Amino acid sequence: MSTILQAISLRKNFGGVVALDDLSFEVRAGEIKSIIGPNGAGKTTLFNIISGIYRPSSGRVRFEGKDVALLPPHVIARKGISRTFQNLQLFANMTVLENVMVGRHPRTRVGFWRSIVRFPGVRREERLTARAAKELLDLVGLADNAHRAAATLPFGKQRLAEIARALATEPKLLLLDEPASGLNVRETEQAGRLIQKIRDMGKTVLVVEHDMSLVMGISEEVLVLDHGRRIAEGPPREVQKHPEVLRVYLGEDFHNAASAES
Ligand SMILES: Nc1ncnc2c1ncn2[C@@H]1O[C@H](COP(=O)(O)OP(=O)(O)OP(=O)(O)O)[C@@H](O)[C@H]1O
Ligand SMILES: [Mg+2]
Repeated sequence: MSTILQAISLRKNFGGVVALDDLSFEVRAGEIKSIIGPNGAGKTTLFNIISGIYRPSSGRVRFEGKDVALLPPHVIARKGISRTFQNLQLFANMTVLENVMVGRHPRTRVGFWRSIVRFPGVRREERLTARAAKELLDLVGLADNAHRAAATLPFGKQRLAEIARALATEPKLLLLDEPASGLNVRETEQAGRLIQKIRDMGKTVLVVEHDMSLVMGISEEVLVLDHGRRIAEGPPREVQKHPEVLRVYLGEDFHNAASAES
């Protein structure tokens, strides 16, 4: 499989805090790769750099062989990288469908504001956008909730709506920041199946997640960060046995998840 994303010697400082410390890794096209690590390990910072929200203090990000680390977020989105947020960022008063339609704007010609104002020329494109958005709601299992205000959805469904919105840009690489956070066991399993379905559609998925049964159940590869550094990387079974990983996760339910998977 070819490499779709490469992080090369990434470093990010916030004042005296070193959030990422000489981090290098690769993501292969078509895989589900998870990034795990304790709170503050630098996982979200990494997503913020890949999606163009932050610039690295030094180092590079290459997507499909081209440097992207200095590009603004909307350009990176157009190149095929999309993400969800650890803290949900839906437009609360818009319907679920409208939220997903808004997600599509990097791919439409008319742009966000003109589509909101609804000039006559944009109607056709708006119909196409609505159709694409409905298909995505179908995919994530929210078709029946299309016309509800996003804020009235239960939390687990809001997470699914965010995934649908991220998919609306037609990304090649999808970044999911804690997609199972706040979900119950059944919802977490559903989210896992959805992530696999998205991978089976040919997309590459990078998942930041604390739920070890989800991570170990769906990932081809796991990257473990601690204090901004890579402490282990490999298939789930290998990473689970890694002494550094066990040390970092001492006292958490990592062992339980590991034995549930094997
Ligand atoms: N905008 C910022 N300004 C200052 N410090 C920041 C900023 N963003 C992150 N940090 C710091 O960088 C470090 C890494 O934070 P980050 O949010 O990337 O961790 P994380 O692995 O996503 O943690 P969690 O699992 O709790 O979400 C932390 O020490 C955090 O306080
Ligand atoms: Mg985080």
